[in-house]
Amino acid sequence: MEIRKVGVVGCGLMGSGIAQVASMAGFSTVVRDVSEELLQKGRGIIEKSLGKLAEKGQITAELKSSTLGRLKPSTKLDDFADCDLVIEAIIENLDRKRELFSQLDKIVKPEAIFASNTSSLSITEMMTATQRAPRFLGLHFFNPVPLMKLVEVVKTVVTDPAVVETGLDYGRKVGKTPILTSDRAGFIVNRLLVPYLLDSIRALEEGAGSIEDIDNGMKLGCNHPMGPLTLNDFVGIDTTYYIAEIMFEEFREKRFAPPPLMKRMVLAGMYGRKSGKGFYDYTDPKNPKPNKLLVG
Ligand code: 3HC
Repeated sequence: MEIRKVGVVGCGLMGSGIAQVASMAGFSTVVRDVSEELLQKGRGIIEKSLGKLAEKGQITAELKSSTLGRLKPSTKLDDFADCDLVIEAIIENLDRKRELFSQLDKIVKPEAIFASNTSSLSITEMMTATQRAPRFLGLHFFNPVPLMKLVEVVKTVVTDPAVVETGLDYGRKVGKTPILTSDRAGFIVNRLLVPYLLDSIRALEEGAGSIEDIDNGMKLGCNHPMGPLTLNDFVGIDTTYYIAEIMFEEFREKRFAPPPLMKRMVLAGMYGRKSGKGFYDYTDPKNPKPNKLLVG
């Protein structure tokens, strides 16, 4: 099936990035959020990102303006009716996602493919809220979407192989390398990444090293672009905590259990970069400092 028109539900950090790469690749793209205010915020993220890419000569000024031109913001799900592919990127809440897909199923043409950008919830459980199980899959993008080269294509036990092919092909068309995985909490990347992120917090709790030394260890010793504690702050400590809880519930393995310090930080609203404090203090965002409250 040929994809011409793409719908993206949710215009937060992930949704705006997913809409941006769809539109950059030439797809007519509808992006929906629940209020004009949130749509404006999402458009701001996209404009800033396109501005950066154009500034660096990675895209032309024409591509920047044609990308914005192909994006149609909307607050109405009805605008997805003739989309060929609808990608959901709303809050990580299974009931909310099931409710959304059940509504979309009644609105969007039956031959369209539905995809979720969930990082850890079950694609199969979302799929059962619709009447189009063979045309349902996961398309899991990475933050920041315009820069990260990967997309995980997640098949369930009933996804039509032709739909899997279309998902892989769509990933390539939006400039990513697709990898194929099956519907298990965390797929491939988070299955490996989450225990590592949790372990970095355990290492800090156990006094293996300071915040900076743990980060520098992996940055300089293994050539990672960010150390694990910086990456925790970047992804959002609350987000990783939530993903870890889902994975722990699925696998019942200790390596997915969030450490006590992480839980305390989430309870205290220390979510990382987005809340201004996590393992680092972002009072000066260009020059984060290790969070003094944690190092005592
Ligand atoms: N669009 C365009 N440009 C962007 C951008 C965006 N969305 N986000 C950042 N940039 C730009 C920055 O503004 C910066 O531009 P400048 O050089 O003009 O200042 C440039 O990219 C480089 O950024 P930084 O200076 O911050 O430095 P880095 O070289 O570290 O690059 C990075 C940033 C690409 C984020 C890099 O640090 C990186 O790859 N980090 C790891 C990210 C990662 O692991 N992401 C996956 C998270 S896991 C996930 O998403 C799964 C989920 O399920 C949890």
